[in-house]
Amino acid sequence: MSDVLGYQGKRVIVSGCFSGMGEATARLLVSLGAEVHGFDSKESTVPMSTFTQIDLRDPATIEAAVAGVGGKVDALFNCAGLPGGGGFLPMDTMKVNFLGTRHLTEQIIPLMGSKGAIVSIASTGGLGWSRRIPIHMQLLATQGFQAGLEWAEANPDHVAEGYAFSKEAVIVWTQFMGARLIKEGIRINCSLPSPTQTPMMATFHATSGKDVVDAAAEPLGRYTTAQEQAGPLVLINSDLAGVVNGVVLPVDGGFMGGLATGQVDISRMMSAPKQQA
Ligand SMILES: NC(=O)c1ccc[n+]([C@@H]2O[C@H](COP(=O)([O-])OP(=O)(O)OC[C@H]3O[C@@H](n4cnc5c(N)ncnc54)[C@H](O)[C@@H]3O)[C@@H](O)[C@H]2O)c1
Repeated sequence: MSDVLGYQGKRVIVSGCFSGMGEATARLLVSLGAEVHGFDSKESTVPMSTFTQIDLRDPATIEAAVAGVGGKVDALFNCAGLPGGGGFLPMDTMKVNFLGTRHLTEQIIPLMGSKGAIVSIASTGGLGWSRRIPIHMQLLATQGFQAGLEWAEANPDHVAEGYAFSKEAVIVWTQFMGARLIKEGIRINCSLPSPTQTPMMATFHATSGKDVVDAAAEPLGRYTTAQEQAGPLVLINSDLAGVVNGVVLPVDGGFMGGLATGQVDISRMMSAPKQQA
């Protein structure tokens, strides 16, 4: 197979490779000839080079997993995540979606050398990011997992149920780090999926209501698949996207464009959302 995306022999790490978008991403990368190292709290069946069990709520497990992979890392795919509510503690959601994801990324960056690519999955649930950039800058100013956790614990009103705030943090952090890491030749981007049929969807339906989630699936008129989300992640971390950096990429069948031009009825979403996919 021709290697137009340049993944043959590349060493890549995928968090969240057990299910959903992370699993689909890991499978696609294996099929493209990458040397894939998967991290998840649940054991994955994807035929990767290595799998390491980690808990993104526990920085020691992250550090041990990265040390186990060692060597040069070409690309990182931050796909692991937890929803908010539905039995998940806000601080666990905050740890997995932002603090642990940031910690993992900070462990990987020194292994990337002068070229590398990082992508994280954020969410349309984080679209409120621009309303509270100064708050997020306080969080970003914290150094390391523990300091970030202490900030989050001191700011429960902002963290709330955990999902929206953690996804906003991923979006602001991606843009902030994009302007810094590019000086070292490293790119960082994130995606904003519209509702996607994965195991997480059951919690979104239970916490936000199916109507609210369905409204975010317009104008496409259906939920996307994990594979449809994996493709753009693999593309944006590929050599073909060599100067795409600090970007918040909607992967939503036109939701954001429809919203911006008044063609998506957001009143259906305004009635509820503590959280939306
Ligand atoms: N499904 C959607 O509609 C949707 C929409 C927007 C954004 N997202 C985001 O997409 C990402 C992928 O979610 P998904 O929809 O594929 O759901 P999913 O539940 O299938 O995948 C989440 C993965 O994260 C792993 N994980 C959870 N807690 C962990 C921990 N403590 N340590 C390590 N790994 C852990 C899970 O085991 C699982 O493999 C998440 O960040 C999610 O917030 C999902």
